[in-house]
Amino acid sequence: MKTIVVAGSEAIESAVSLLRAGEAVALPTETVYGLAADALNEQAVVKIFAAKARPRFDPLIVHLPSADWVERVAAFPDSSRALFTKLTDRFWPGPLTVVVPRKPIVPDIVAAGLETVALRVSAHPVFSAIIRQFGGPLAAPSANRFGRISPTCAADVDAELGGLIPFVVDGGPTAHGLESTIVALRNDRIEVLRRGPITQEQLGEFGEVSISAGSKVEAPGQLPSHYAPATPLVLVDSADDFGTPGGKRCGLLGWGTTSTRFAEIRLLSRQGDLSEAARNLFRYLRELDGLGLDLIVAEKVPDNGLGAAINDRLGRAAQH
Ligand code: TXA
Ligand code: MG
Repeated sequence: MKTIVVAGSEAIESAVSLLRAGEAVALPTETVYGLAADALNEQAVVKIFAAKARPRFDPLIVHLPSADWVERVAAFPDSSRALFTKLTDRFWPGPLTVVVPRKPIVPDIVAAGLETVALRVSAHPVFSAIIRQFGGPLAAPSANRFGRISPTCAADVDAELGGLIPFVVDGGPTAHGLESTIVALRNDRIEVLRRGPITQEQLGEFGEVSISAGSKVEAPGQLPSHYAPATPLVLVDSADDFGTPGGKRCGLLGWGTTSTRFAEIRLLSRQGDLSEAARNLFRYLRELDGLGLDLIVAEKVPDNGLGAAINDRLGRAAQH
């Protein structure tokens, strides 16, 4: 069987059969590609950890076929139910993950022993067709090796996990380019554990928002050094003022600079559009990382809206 197959009814059938047989397969979502397996089958979930070389202490997101599944896997305190319902009515299906107390049906390995589980319903038509046909929850982390850049197209999944997984469904480049926003609910407060496509401003309409992303390690995936390219990366306000070290080949991941001093240049968005920048971010980082440069100079983007999530990823890529 061919490993990478363009999304269509045959690819969907094959993915569902493999998932039912307890295999881990890579699927497109609207954020990044995920490596999915039956969330209720421990042996299947083990294959995700093995392919990614992911430590067992890092919990997985559980994707649900629809919001109707929530009651089967989550045990809410009544205090956060109203807020949960408001948020998921607004943002599901979509790029929002909510951490809630879990029921025993969720295997320990999925939750890495925590009392909670992270839940999401994807809006991607291919993902959603597969999970509905499969008929149960799918555990799916990003389809990259642990600590590396998340894949936003099928070729990037292949570069990360080729030879380690049996099947990749190619649904083209992903719409958002960044992983989902992760929140935990503390009574009527929303705590952002990972910034993403649903912005602080959007969440602010539903309650008081605090950002713990980056400040405290709630889960190991929030460790500062993540999304690491192999090439050293420095994050600057403007590359125009950055003195490139002599004799070094430097690449630019630019936002607003007009400088042409760099050996390789990738501009996140010529129009200054943050959505376009988010879509290009991981692809360009990966491209620059593959060019054997001595240094990547990345420019911060404006910190409003989606920009905060982009700067968060750049900040992590700069930590070696
Ligand atoms: O957009 C996304 O969320 C993608 C697509 C495939 O859905 N998935 C993804 O999964 O980014 P992953 O595993 O790469 O990142 C999930 C993050 C990890 O940092 C993990 O530590 C955290 O979610 N997480 C999972 N369960 C958690 C929990 N119960 N409490 C706190 N953090 C949790
Ligand atoms: Mg990940």
